[in-house]
Order: sequence, then C-alpha cells, then structure tokens
Amino acid sequence: MIKAGIIGGAGYTGLELLRLLLGHPRVEISVVTSRRHRGRKVSEVNPHLFPFSGELEYEDVDAAEVTDRSDVVFLAVPHGSAMNYVPGLLARGSGRGRGGVKVIDLSADYRLKRAEYERVYGLRHKDRQSEEREAVYGLTELHPEVAAAGVDLVANPGCYPTGAILAVAPLVKEGLVRQVVFDAKSGISGAGAEPSEKSHFPNLAENIVPYQVTAHRHVAEMRQELGAGELGAGGVKVSFTPHILPSIRGILTTAHIFLNARERGRTQAEIEEVYKRFYEDKKFVRLTRGVPSLSSVRGTNFCDIWFEIEEGEKGETERVVVISAIDNLVKGGSGQAVQNMNLIFRLDEAEGLWSPGLVP
Ligand SMILES: NC(=O)c1ccc[n+]([C@@H]2O[C@H](COP(=O)([O-])OP(=O)(O)OC[C@H]3O[C@@H](n4cnc5c(N)ncnc54)[C@H](OP(=O)(O)O)[C@@H]3O)[C@@H](O)[C@H]2O)c1
Repeated sequence: MIKAGIIGGAGYTGLELLRLLLGHPRVEISVVTSRRHRGRKVSEVNPHLFPFSGELEYEDVDAAEVTDRSDVVFLAVPHGSAMNYVPGLLARGSGRGRGGVKVIDLSADYRLKRAEYERVYGLRHKDRQSEEREAVYGLTELHPEVAAAGVDLVANPGCYPTGAILAVAPLVKEGLVRQVVFDAKSGISGAGAEPSEKSHFPNLAENIVPYQVTAHRHVAEMRQELGAGELGAGGVKVSFTPHILPSIRGILTTAHIFLNARERGRTQAEIEEVYKRFYEDKKFVRLTRGVPSLSSVRGTNFCDIWFEIEEGEKGETERVVVISAIDNLVKGGSGQAVQNMNLIFRLDEAEGLWSPGLVP
C-alpha cells in the first residue's frame, strides 16, 4: 500500500483528498494534519467520512515526521505556506534510502517561474531552489512526463487554469489560435473554507459576482502554458475574467477563441477532429454532444468540453466558443492530485477516481 500524508487536511481540498484516498484501493492514509483540530477524530469533525476514516485523528506534526511516515505527501495549504514545507520534505525524503518521498503541492507555490511567481503573488519565494527542483506542472493531459522516473515534485494546477487550458489546448497545439478570452464562473468552495464578505450568504445568494476582472492571478498560469509556447505554439494572447456563483462546487468556463487569419476557413468538422485526436486517449476529458453543465461533473474527475462556431459574413469562422465544465475540488484540485499520484506510482491513472457523478 502507498502511505499518503496530507498537510492541511481540514480545508476543502484536504477533505476532498480524504474522501478520494479513503476509497482508493492502493492507498492508506498515514497522517493528516490540522492545527485547529489536532487530537480530534477525523470522522468526529467530518461526519460524512464516518465510518470510512476509522480511528484516524488530526495531528499537528512537523514536515520531518510526515515524511518519515509517508511515501507521498499532499500539500493542501495556502500559497506562501507550501514553500515552507517542500524543501524539508524533499531533503529528508531523499535521504532515507527507500526511493524518496513524492510531494504533490496543490498550492500555487511551484507552478510559475520564480520571478513571475514573486511578481504575481507579491511575495518573495522563500525556497531559493524552487526552479532547480523542476516541479512538473501536473496537468496530466498535457504533461505526461509526470510519470517519468525521478519526478519528486508536482505543482498541481490551479482550478481555473485546469478548465481554461483544457478547453483550448487542442487548438493552440495545432497553431490555430491568435487570441482567447476566458470567462469563467466558479462555485464558492474555490475560495477555501475560510468565510469572507464575498461568501456571506446574503451577498452571494441569487447573485453572480465578477472579481479581479482583468488581473486574477491564475491568468499567469494560463499564459505560461498557452501563451508562452509550452504547447509548441507561442504568441497566443490570453485574457481571463472570473465570477463567483451561488453554488458550492464547479467551474464553467466559456472560451471565446479567435483564430489566426489564415485559419479562418476551418470548418466545424475539422475543429471537432482536432479535439477528438488530441483527447482520444485521455480518460478524464469527455467531448459532449451538448452544452456541458456543472451538475454533470459534480464529484467527478471529468472535464466536459463542447464547442460551437460563429460564422462571419462570408461563411468564415469568426469565433470558436468552447465551453468546459469541471468540479473545482476534483479535476480542479484533489482529483487531479490523485491522478498525478497514480501516474507517479505507475498505477492506472483512474484508480480511485473512476466513479459516476452526483446529480443534483
Ligand atoms: N478550493 C479549491 O477549489 C482549490 C482548487 C485547487 C487548488 N486549491 C489550492 O489548494 C490549497 C488549499 O485550498 P483550500 O481551498 O483547501 O484551502 P482552505 O479550505 O482554506 O484550507 C487550507 C487548510 O490549510 C491549513 N493551513 C493553513 N495554513 C497552514 C500552514 N501554514 N501550515 C499547515 N497548515 C495550514 C488550514 O488548516 P488548520 O488551520 O486546521 O491547520 C486550512 O484548513 C490552496 O493553495 C488553494 O489555492 C484550491
């Protein structure tokens, strides 16, 4: 069995990791931390995990002890905190002579190049070797190298970037895209378990709240993957506007895609072929027949994708509108983290994740 430790096990992504890993046939949870709930049984704090979490208790232990008890450690803590743990986890893990511990960081701390991270997040990266660690950006559909030997650190992608990048990646890879504008709507669990003015029920109910309209931090990840040429394209202009929805889970992303002038003759059938080819062997991307919905992916690790073409006056492709739907806590967070763990440990990538959704 793989021994998995979770640091930050009482937050939303930590709880989702617990739910998924408790049902994973090849994993045993070795340690789960919470400073607030230390000493309390996990099922007492979270009755939905009873009786599956058995006698498991929240602990407040340091990185050294988590490493000694684990083969893989998930960091489900805020950005700025994960970087305090990673150097210690990797250093101690590699010295213990049984293959080293693997670290999967759900925060933003290792997703961007250091200078870009410091600019976007407005704080100094305390791990001065953050780039030398060569974290793999864990969007497995685009980065199969996560399964390569020697990968110790995975930077699990952000929730918005997951839905956005998957929506447009096939067209970017093909070199068709000049510009993309992402308009995304997220359930409030994306903001974490800490209550805020934005999440206060009377402020959010029967409402949709745009925020950080032109400068959300996640756009940097989207640009790194799509705009700067990770997909072999380069030069794609990327914009992003997020909104909060009065729902708990899910992100629906509408990608408005403008093609390069020479590609405007592309037909619906050709574009569909590009998507089918790109995703044909990807278990967790479903090309749907109609508009995707949040309820179709709730509780699952799927990203559902659908598109329609808007024609110009001369019948040319004016705009491609692609819509994607994910559960931010699963494919946008903890499910994707488990998918990464499966690949690192040479398991089927769907192990522990292959289950139908929850409706309503
Ligand atoms: N929510 C999402 O949809 C989502 C999706 C993808 C990625 N993420 C990322 O995943 C990370 C966790 O997000 P979340 O939504 O689960 O946040 P959250 O609900 O606020 O939970 C974070 C947990 O981390 C613990 N914590 C905070 N500071 C810590 C520290 N310095 N050391 C150890 N533990 C600490 C806290 O528990 P105690 O105080 O009890 O220790 C808290 O419960 C964030 O970086 C977030 O950006 C979130």
